[in-house]
Amino acid sequence: MGVIIKISVVLLSVFLALLGLGFHNITSPPAITASFNRNQYWGPGKEPQKQDDSVRKFKLDVPDNVIQDLKQRLSNMRPLTPPLEGIQQQYGINSNLLKEILEFWRTKYNWTERQEYLNKYPQYKTNIQGLDIHFLHVKPQNVPKTKKILPLMILHGWPGSVREFYEIIPHLTTQSDDRDFVFEVIAPHIPGYGFSQAAAKPGLGANQIAVIMNNLMQRLGFKQYYCQGGDFGAIILQSLTILYPNNVLGYHTNMAYVSTPLANIKTALGMLYPGWIVRKDHQDRVYPLWDKFMHRIRETGYLHLQATKPDTLGVGVGDSPAGLAAYILEKFTTGTNIQWQTREDGGLLEKFTYTNLLDNVMIYWISNSATTSFRLYAESFSTAHTGQNVLRQPIKVPTAVARFRWDFYVADGLLGEIYPNNLQLSDFDGGHFAAFEVPEVLAQDIFNAVEKFLVYQSNVQQ
Ligand SMILES: *[C@@H]1O[C@H](CO)[C@@H](O)[C@H](O)[C@H]1NC(C)=O
Ligand SMILES: *[C@@H]1O[C@H](CO)[C@@H](O)[C@H](O)[C@H]1NC(C)=O
Repeated sequence: MGVIIKISVVLLSVFLALLGLGFHNITSPPAITASFNRNQYWGPGKEPQKQDDSVRKFKLDVPDNVIQDLKQRLSNMRPLTPPLEGIQQQYGINSNLLKEILEFWRTKYNWTERQEYLNKYPQYKTNIQGLDIHFLHVKPQNVPKTKKILPLMILHGWPGSVREFYEIIPHLTTQSDDRDFVFEVIAPHIPGYGFSQAAAKPGLGANQIAVIMNNLMQRLGFKQYYCQGGDFGAIILQSLTILYPNNVLGYHTNMAYVSTPLANIKTALGMLYPGWIVRKDHQDRVYPLWDKFMHRIRETGYLHLQATKPDTLGVGVGDSPAGLAAYILEKFTTGTNIQWQTREDGGLLEKFTYTNLLDNVMIYWISNSATTSFRLYAESFSTAHTGQNVLRQPIKVPTAVARFRWDFYVADGLLGEIYPNNLQLSDFDGGHFAAFEVPEVLAQDIFNAVEKFLVYQSNVQQ
């Protein structure tokens, strides 16, 4: 773009933004417009008189006929359309790759074994606000009395599940001599995902799920706790830290979210001089703005569909194992590294195994939760939900942000608006599913962050 055009575009967008919103509305966050009822009922029909607040043990025990049916569907599927000549993942998942994975699923993936694996951590269900919430609860073993055990909630997103955390959990719950604390991990499924019951009523967006998640921690006796999330787990937990600053002791995220008019204006102004908002070595992650915008459009078609017509989309995706695997696994190729778009194997085996990836697909399959998982987008991107302004608020509790090379990116100069109390900013190689992809790296970063949170708290108390 020519310099004159560039300057004109920037000034025009700034002018329009100021005109539309007024200076005050841009520089200070609008008030939260909703009140959040801790007892709001999301279950089917009328709220029962008496609520069951017990915490029940849970184990996966999928009936044989479900697995038979799955195998039959995989055997009877229609032929996949071959990819265009010279095309790898650019039109969506490569069907040669998909074919190989589906064949593996049908002939080698052993559910008996995998179910045992998925049952290796203690799991529970408890009813909150009318919904049965499923979660892993893993405590560290043989901890000396001198060490603190800190409660940490970790939350997945879409198209993930608690399966993403099976490799990181041992890192988080194993004590090491050089630290005086270790974690007790609580990993819930979002309502409508995996084995957490879906809402029967409209309106259960990220903010409302934050209420449920805080209620879960209170039910388990954790008045105060730490939390960590990526993808939609990050959105929900960001909301939770804003709604319950007295309950959250610190928040670590591998997907910081800053979307405000001021951030947009700064990003536009940065076209003139990127150094205002973004480090020199990261400028190609934000600019050229138009390229980045078009890239975003190309990669987020799923989001638009899920945010508008989840029920239509869910029929096809949810009814076919091939369709479900294609839809989910595409995200694990390009979401992990966009450069893998030009590889026929999608790079999947660089960081994952077919078995591990199919565990996650299986959780969606056996719980039949395609549609209910998509609805999270409809509920959270509705104007009613965004108009609640929760994610426009600065986070009061201490935070730590880990940025992965191929994940969504927030520039240093924008972070402060929502993360004014950020104690750690780390940059790593890797993609969107950090816990699943590089468990050791993420665990180490969480430990480092919580160490800083603890120092911060002891300073505040003095
Ligand atoms: C700007 O903020 C004021 C006060 O907070 C509010 O009354 C007004 O509706 C806002 N204007 C816009 C365009 O959002
Ligand atoms: C699947 O795993 C179970 C448990 O390890 C084993 O007993 C069984 O033989 C395996 N099935 C196949 C088909 O390999």
